[in-house]
Amino acid sequence: MTPCEAASDDQAPALPAGTYRLTRRDWVKSTGVGVSSAVLAGLAPAAAPAGASAAPPELRIAELDALKPDVPVPFAYPDASSPAVLVRLRGPAAGGVGPGQSVVAFSVLCTHKGCPVSYKPERRLLICPCHWSTFDPAKSGQMVIGQASQPLPQIKLRVDGNAVFAVGVDGLIFGRHTNML
Ligand code: FES
Repeated sequence: MTPCEAASDDQAPALPAGTYRLTRRDWVKSTGVGVSSAVLAGLAPAAAPAGASAAPPELRIAELDALKPDVPVPFAYPDASSPAVLVRLRGPAAGGVGPGQSVVAFSVLCTHKGCPVSYKPERRLLICPCHWSTFDPAKSGQMVIGQASQPLPQIKLRVDGNAVFAVGVDGLIFGRHTNML
């Protein structure tokens, strides 16, 4: 029986003995529709914690004219607990900035178990020493072999004059309780 078929409590004709008529009150009790607004208010999403929607920081990393191809520049972003590396590659890269879109940056925390990856100029790849997951900096940090299941988070870059700035992160940095998307 639907709520529309439920009889009103006071206008129903008499039923044969042994039968039971579902009243609106019975239906409300059985379905929980009568939950108070005070309880529903408790289900509203909690307010965002202070600072959760803060914009990612801008960090000046390097001067463009000082970057040499295949020479990694270590830095930390978005704070000191998240080591990262900037590299000027020898050709264009996805998400690259600067000359020929060749400058990219990544978190160095391997997405498998968090070991720090290193840039290997002879292979032009970022390689993890723990279980050998290998990531391609020219292809948004995609994993090309190994145990990890996610690409390396790519640091978003902006060039202003001769300066390269970190301005955000694409991906989830290993081990952080909060990540910026
Ligand atoms: S921690 Fe990098 S491959 Fe396992």
